[in-house]
Amino acid sequence: MRIYTLAKELGMDSKELIEKLKELNFPVKSHMSSVDKETAEIIRHEIEELRRKEIESNVIEVDFPISVKDLAVKLNKKPSEILKLLISKGEFVNINHNLDEKTASEIAYSYKVTLKRKPTYEEIIFKEEKEEVLEKRAPIVTLMGHIDHGKTSILDYIRKSKIVDKEAGGITQHIGAYRIIFKNGEITFLDTPGHEAFTAMRARGANVTDIVVLVVAADEGIKPQTIEAIDHARASEVPIIVAINKIDKPNANIDMVKQQLSKYDLVPEDWGGKTVTVGVSAKTGAGIDELLEMILLQAELMELKVSYNRPAIGVVIEAKLSKGRGSVITALVQQGILKVGDICVSGLWWGRVRALYDDRGRKVKDAHPSYPVEVIGLNGVPSPGEYIFVVPNEKEARNIVERRKEEEKKIKNIPPVHLRLEDLHEKIKEENLKQLKIILKADVGGTLEAVEEALKKFSTKEVEINFIHKGVGSINYSDVLLAEVSDAIIAGFKVDIEPQAKELARSEGIEIRVYQIVYELINDVKSALEGLLSPHFKKIFVGRAKILRVFKLSKAGVIAGCIVEKGKIIRSYTCELIRDNKVVISSKIASLKRFKDDVREVSEGMECGIDIDYRDIREGDYIDVFIEEKIERKLR
Ligand code: GTP
Ligand code: MG
Repeated sequence: MRIYTLAKELGMDSKELIEKLKELNFPVKSHMSSVDKETAEIIRHEIEELRRKEIESNVIEVDFPISVKDLAVKLNKKPSEILKLLISKGEFVNINHNLDEKTASEIAYSYKVTLKRKPTYEEIIFKEEKEEVLEKRAPIVTLMGHIDHGKTSILDYIRKSKIVDKEAGGITQHIGAYRIIFKNGEITFLDTPGHEAFTAMRARGANVTDIVVLVVAADEGIKPQTIEAIDHARASEVPIIVAINKIDKPNANIDMVKQQLSKYDLVPEDWGGKTVTVGVSAKTGAGIDELLEMILLQAELMELKVSYNRPAIGVVIEAKLSKGRGSVITALVQQGILKVGDICVSGLWWGRVRALYDDRGRKVKDAHPSYPVEVIGLNGVPSPGEYIFVVPNEKEARNIVERRKEEEKKIKNIPPVHLRLEDLHEKIKEENLKQLKIILKADVGGTLEAVEEALKKFSTKEVEINFIHKGVGSINYSDVLLAEVSDAIIAGFKVDIEPQAKELARSEGIEIRVYQIVYELINDVKSALEGLLSPHFKKIFVGRAKILRVFKLSKAGVIAGCIVEKGKIIRSYTCELIRDNKVVISSKIASLKRFKDDVREVSEGMECGIDIDYRDIREGDYIDVFIEEKIERKLR
């Protein structure tokens, strides 16, 4: 093959190719020189590799979506040139048109530029940096337990305060955050109105608690809410220290509590277990010092460290609108030092910090990590669990809030999708749905009961059928409304659907299934429930190929030149790309070739060309092929 033919094929002129080949230590005399087929293939590969490297090193950071006009500026091209390119791809747009990441990247690629999405400000400040100097912070401890077992009283004793006296009926209604200093240590306590508040914060993504102190009254022992608190604490995977409170009471029975604790897998240390338990009295103060020591000891083990030198980030614990003070946000600082005068964003709000107050209502200039603090100055009230963080200037604050509002709108514009029997499987996978809610209507009471009994038998520990409403008669408007708010399906047996109900069901996407034969109804529900049981996949190894060379074909993508080292490679089977013993990507064998022919399979010891629909494959990588066998779990 002549060099000039090869140059043409590679879209370069011969001179350029000869120059490149010189660089690659591959001298050729002139454009009339010939190379054999094998060498031509190597040259193609090397040139493609050079190009790829060149493009990959030529990175420009942009924001997506990007308008044609802005992209042109970034690429230093005329907008009309880019519009032409788009037209050649069949996209007729104007210069203000916003291009998505994929389209913009493709255009950039043709100009030998790689586009990288500019990280947002939040992404930068929330990312930990390796070289950071980390310093100790105080542990954040949440008090949990049954109502009236003395959570707030313990805090009052420690702080020499009288919070309980100020609470309506002595019941904690809001999360409170308090900082205490004990000997040489500091602890931040969170007092919650119940484990629901604790879990609600977690549900919103704010995992602020380092340690849970479970308060159990020695006279009453473990109560239903204590058990729930244990489960909630456990779900958050933080260490639990048990404070057995009210030991001053004559009917206090510490051993009874310890025995009960053992039943819930919290075996006390002095009973041979691992759980730290401390007997305390919020009234006399007995054991309180020991409790604080235990907390600090546990914190020491956890090595809680953060950077004090970064833009401050905190978590909103409570937020309210107050007369005269405006938005009052109680936050726990998580990193950096929050200062008066900082510009902050939280949720959809922002503002300059006008004042900061500590947990005793005193004005402070700044707040360190783990400090609870009241922040005054934002222009609205964010939800608890939301982050509050410092931004460099007002413009950045406005940008972030604007973007968030846009995103919120997008979410709101997506119409609600209600549950359908056939989508049950997907829902379970995505949303961990473990319950099928049914509204059941039948023609007569006897049938209703019979159908209910038959369906109930399918309830298992993992999936439960929940009849949220049953009744005799036609499916009416109220049934559909109920299904809408509770995301239930409606099943009817030998009944009509009222026209109004039909209309609402259609507009809201509620599924109504009406049957004439009991067996069919039962069968449908059973199949749907079998979808409810999470299916398992068994991976069966089929073969492994080693990538010897990578061929970049301009149109068809990237082909891996392989040798099959073990087993077989089979077209359209699932595969994984393995590099340094790690899975890079899971994909499919998109095409399989022996020489020029498409084949269905290639056996051990043979060479082949594999396309796995992924560009970044490298020499020395492996392609492992599997069959994925679904193991459906049947009910009974
Ligand atoms: P909620 O916030 O409503 O969940 O309750 P809590 O767990 O915060 O209990 P709180 O501190 O409000 O205490 C409830 C009652 O128990 C109050 O009347 C306290 O005075 C009393 N109490 C708390 N600790 C002790 C104690 O160690 N000994 C005695 N004798 N009474 C206590
Ligand atoms: Mg309380």
